[in-house]
Amino acid sequence: MALFSKKKDKEQVLPQNLPAHIGIIMDGNGRWAKKRALPRSMGHSAGAQTFRKIARYCSDIGIRHLTVYAFSTENWRRPQEEVDALMKLFEEYLNEALRDFKDDTIVVKFLGDRTAFSPKLQALINENEEESKDREGMVLNIAMNYGGRDELVTATKKIAEKVKNGELSVDDINAELISDSIYTAGQPDPDLIIRPSGEFRISNFLLWQSAYAEYYISDKLWPDFTTDDLDEAIAEFSTRNRRYGGV
Ligand code: IPE
Ligand code: IPE
Ligand code: MG
Repeated sequence: MALFSKKKDKEQVLPQNLPAHIGIIMDGNGRWAKKRALPRSMGHSAGAQTFRKIARYCSDIGIRHLTVYAFSTENWRRPQEEVDALMKLFEEYLNEALRDFKDDTIVVKFLGDRTAFSPKLQALINENEEESKDREGMVLNIAMNYGGRDELVTATKKIAEKVKNGELSVDDINAELISDSIYTAGQPDPDLIIRPSGEFRISNFLLWQSAYAEYYISDKLWPDFTTDDLDEAIAEFSTRNRRYGGV
């Protein structure tokens, strides 16, 4: 059962109360595998299946933007074997997306520093973006080698460079400019951020963008997360009173 949830039927959530942008920290794959005495890589494979289901479902129910946290700038600290297994899964998914989703409506984008990936994976990332860029459906942001701090450092350097060469003055620097200089430029901030696996932390996800996001923590491990769990998170979200600092 999800924490803090007030179980409601999905029919009760009116389209105007759906979050426009959902972020998901896809956490708990390792613990899922451990519970079954399986290698951690099997947990990641199971998590990838959940990702496929949930992304499709979000698109089907009319979510406009979905951002999934797939690999953080800190995840390189894991054993090489686990990192390799994750890179292999990314390649499999991105190949599948190119091969099988020709008539899809989903726009695929990547958040993070892609230059750290193998040339093959970088090519797949670029091809997926290129192939899907003119579609009109949900924008699926895959955060890979993504870190909120890294994103802000990169944006700061970009802005400083422009000030240095006279394209911008210091007075031009404001919140809008920063929003336009980060990976999610042009997209709305997340309304709802879901973290499965019961952890109450942000782990460097969408630091700037989540200023007024609503959090939802589920104690389900990501591979066990279902479309019903997503419905529950959305229903709970629709009952929140967002004040943005006002009254
Ligand atoms: C999330 O699951 C996947 C990645 C971080 C790539 P974890 O691998 O962090 O799973 P736990 O937290 O160890 O259970
Ligand atoms: C966050 O999960 C990153 C992803 C889900 C990709 P982690 O498992 O890396 O986060 P911590 O280490 O528990 O904070
Ligand atoms: Mg984890």
